Amino acid sequence: MKPKREPMIRGARASDRGDLVEMRLLLQRHLEASNPRIWRMTEEGERKIAEEVEQMLCGEDSRVVVAEVGGVVVGYAYGTVSRRASFTPRSVGFINGIYVREPYRRRGIGTRLVGELCKFFDAEKMEEVNLRYVVGNREGEGFWRRLGFKPIIHTANTSLEELERRL
Ligand SMILES: CC(C)(COP(=O)(O)OP(=O)(O)OC[C@H]1O[C@@H](n2cnc3c(N)ncnc32)[C@H](O)[C@@H]1OP(=O)(O)O)[C@@H](O)C(=O)NCCC(=O)NCCS
Repeated sequence: MKPKREPMIRGARASDRGDLVEMRLLLQRHLEASNPRIWRMTEEGERKIAEEVEQMLCGEDSRVVVAEVGGVVVGYAYGTVSRRASFTPRSVGFINGIYVREPYRRRGIGTRLVGELCKFFDAEKMEEVNLRYVVGNREGEGFWRRLGFKPIIHTANTSLEELERRL
């Protein structure tokens, strides 16, 4: 029998829940380490990740894909589609999260996960693909730049106290 091409990229199954919860948490930790100013997930938030993953898996307008190497789930990507009449483009695919376990990075797995989400976006006739990434997340910045994404909006924050001091 011909050996399967590794990694295998496939739609997520209910049995991937455990890996998805773990990687969603690792993604959050990575983002928090990338920039001390981003919102931190609370313990309650961490406890709710399982619910979040459930919604990701069940959402009508969403798709979760995973990468598997030697039977181990080593990465995932999560995308949603959105349509509106008040703006153009009228149909936008969002990449809401992507994570590849550290030892498996720089082997093209992230790119293949995005490729799999694009099949979903194509089938749903999306015109644009949109995402957010944290300033200071070097992996995200390099990865998305390489795929042609360009920043269009800055999100900025300060504490109310700090703002009032400056008024
Ligand atoms: C971002 C991430 C998903 C990329 O996955 P990956 O499997 O390593 O990506 P690929 O191997 O397909 O990389 C494709 C290209 O993206 C760019 N790239 C990827 N990682 C990079 C990095 N750390 N620094 C600079 N460029 C990078 C490179 O051009 C790379 O091509 P090359 O390896 O031939 O130079 C992975 O690093 C990751 O999970 N990071 C932690 C979570 C995260 O930051 N997610 C994104 C949130 S917005």
